[in-house]
Amino acid sequence: MEFVLYEVSAETKVGTITINRPKALNALNSAVLDDLSEAFDLAEKDAAEDKVRCLILTGAGEKSFVAGADIGEMSTLTKEQGEAFGKKGNDLFLRIESFPIPVIAAVNGFALGGGNEISMSCDIRICSENAVFGQPETGLGITPGFGGTQRLARLVGPGMAKQMVYSARNIKADEAYRIGLVNAVYPLEELIPAAQKLAATIASQAPIAVRASKEAINRGISLPIDQAVAVEEKLFGSCFESEDQKEGMANFLRKKDDPKKVKHVAFQNK
Ligand code: CAA
Repeated sequence: MEFVLYEVSAETKVGTITINRPKALNALNSAVLDDLSEAFDLAEKDAAEDKVRCLILTGAGEKSFVAGADIGEMSTLTKEQGEAFGKKGNDLFLRIESFPIPVIAAVNGFALGGGNEISMSCDIRICSENAVFGQPETGLGITPGFGGTQRLARLVGPGMAKQMVYSARNIKADEAYRIGLVNAVYPLEELIPAAQKLAATIASQAPIAVRASKEAINRGISLPIDQAVAVEEKLFGSCFESEDQKEGMANFLRKKDDPKKVKHVAFQNK
């Protein structure tokens, strides 16, 4: 892959996907989208083999996570080509959103347009103090095209999403934190260690339960509450067929009987 790096820690079962086109501030052209798709293919295989249980998505360099879709590539598109380019991004971002294991966006600088949009397709966003978020598309004569009109409104509410999209005004890390777009803000040098710590914590929980929790939240969020809790019931019930449920609960009960003999549970993904 020319524009994307993929590495795995065998120790923590955390995979890291790095968008690596720093000369263009990691802007997403078709080649970057294709490489990302390939990296997620590799991660999906590793997740199926239980080599990876949580992913981190970040950008190369200290200035930019992703500065948007590639404006040069978009500048000459026709209506049909524009729609197809939007679909290419949307297909990939839908895949990230419903990826079997959690994906943490570690936003290390500009997250504009398609950059904010790819971060919003991840399960969790954390960022560095120099991060800048925005949907500048209306200033370019287009709407957000990789899900920004939809996911931003769902994440921060329609009022704030409309203000950001209509005004094309960027916001800094502290405001992104205040409106709930990111979960935490770190000094730049602490961002990746913080993402790795969070990812390793997630990777140490029962994998079947983590995956089922992701599925329950994602499927339930767009359903009426009575149907949403029914989705949860099925997934909750399915966990009781796993060995990890038996081991996880037995460990708790052992600890209760004898607090000095705390046994760490190494979940088997079974
Ligand atoms: N597309 C293509 N190239 C980009 C780019 C983008 N989105 N963002 C930055 N670059 C390139 C610049 O053209 C420049 O390349 P050259 O060195 O070859 O000239 C290089 O990255 C460095 O950028 P700047 O010199 O502009 O750096 P800066 O520090 O002065 O400014 C910035 C940084 C404020 C992020 C500025 O680059 C910028 O405004 N970029 C565009 C941001 C944007 O509008 N993104 C939304 C795109 S539309 C979209 O994403 C649609 C969608 O929803 C699918």
